Amino acid sequence: MATSLDADTRPIIPDDIARIVVAPKSYTDDATIYGAFKWLREHMPLGIAQVPGYDPLWIVTRHADIREVERNAKLFHNADHNPVLNDQASDAFTREITGGTTRLLSSLTYMDPPEHASYRTLTSNWFLPGKISKLEEQVRVLARQSVDNLLSFDGECDFVRDFALHYPLRVIMSLFGVPPEDEPKMLKLTQEFFGVHDPEEQRPEMVADPVVAAKQWAASIEDFYTYFDRLSAQRREQPTDDLLSLIANSRINGAPIPRDEANGYYVAIATAGHDTTSSSTAGGLHGMMAYPENWAKVKADPALIPGLVDEAIRWTSPVKHFMRNATADTQVRGMDIRAMERLMICYPSGNRDEAVFADADRFDITRSPNPHIAFGFGPHMCLGQHLAKLEMRILFEELLPHLASVEMAGPPRLVETNFVGGYKALPIRFKKA
Ligand code: HEM
Repeated sequence: MATSLDADTRPIIPDDIARIVVAPKSYTDDATIYGAFKWLREHMPLGIAQVPGYDPLWIVTRHADIREVERNAKLFHNADHNPVLNDQASDAFTREITGGTTRLLSSLTYMDPPEHASYRTLTSNWFLPGKISKLEEQVRVLARQSVDNLLSFDGECDFVRDFALHYPLRVIMSLFGVPPEDEPKMLKLTQEFFGVHDPEEQRPEMVADPVVAAKQWAASIEDFYTYFDRLSAQRREQPTDDLLSLIANSRINGAPIPRDEANGYYVAIATAGHDTTSSSTAGGLHGMMAYPENWAKVKADPALIPGLVDEAIRWTSPVKHFMRNATADTQVRGMDIRAMERLMICYPSGNRDEAVFADADRFDITRSPNPHIAFGFGPHMCLGQHLAKLEMRILFEELLPHLASVEMAGPPRLVETNFVGGYKALPIRFKKA
């Protein structure tokens, strides 16, 4: 259902800028997308995009506004409409196959209060910093194996394909309880799930379809469900101490967790749990190659690694947007936002907001404080943030002492996505220490 915005008195974003923000291809080129965000922050921090084929949208680009919208989860809902931006034809397809809703995946992202809190509570203890820090040794073993593997390349490799894609996948799948032999399947399905707009990630039989994005999204969710149904049943019969067992055996309102909600949980963890961390790990190395003074600093003082991790996550912002829906007439930044209007929360823009980050485009591991919003804000703030930071810190602690130098061996390539993604390739040349 398209909302119609009465734009008479409200700011309309120039067509070329609006198209850039919405188009998945723009996110393959930093100059294009960050140029558009910069223009918006300066001239129209809260404006309406009217791109043909899409619902009218408020585009939210300033750090303070993103936090304001996200903190108020009763006023700004995730699930009244699709929390992920699709064109209208794709949303119509999704409604057709679900019998009228855009909730194709029953994950936390597609939930609002009070349902959201009751499901988040099932695992929130597992993800607490105190619990996550106990995984340090287990994760370090995986980091060492990955570093050994990288060092076996003869001074040149693709840091993404040969390294960054695999380590976060290993970490989350081993904690989650997915057997190692199934990791390639999880990687492929995740690349299809987040790569619905990227011709290189689209299923051949769907490429030419006008709603390829929605169809591929649905197909990859179905494949995940088929896979996890089996694993979930196994863990109910024979629970172990992994995260999958925790979810499979959890109860909601006194009854076992329903199949769709269990599967929604699994899919969120099996996708968001590594793709994001891979991108920010690659971004950390890219940032240091692009701004080499950081390399010298962190080599001299490993205590800067936590700063490197936060800056890598800010600078890459692997999650590009989530959508919110106003539940009542309200105001943000003095603008009248009406009930049922949709807002696109642009995390990469908030993370380059000059009002918060000096010299915001610059990669600087000594940035302090670094109040980035790459993990979002408010009740939906990333469940896996402490795990993501722990695994990245350990990785750089293990990797950096083994590298004497590193440089780019070709241009990086980025995934075509306006949702979640980052590096597809990062060719490097390195000398071992
Ligand atoms: C939610 C970013 C790693 C699981 C989110 C959100 C963002 C995000 C922006 C939405 C927040 C909001 O709506 O306010 C990131 C980034 C990561 C990362 C940048 C890595 C650098 C992880 C990991 C896991 C994970 C490792 C799991 C192991 C989730 C889940 C949600 C979520 C389950 C939904 C939370 C909810 O709606 O309540 N993440 N994430 N993420 N993330 Fe992450």
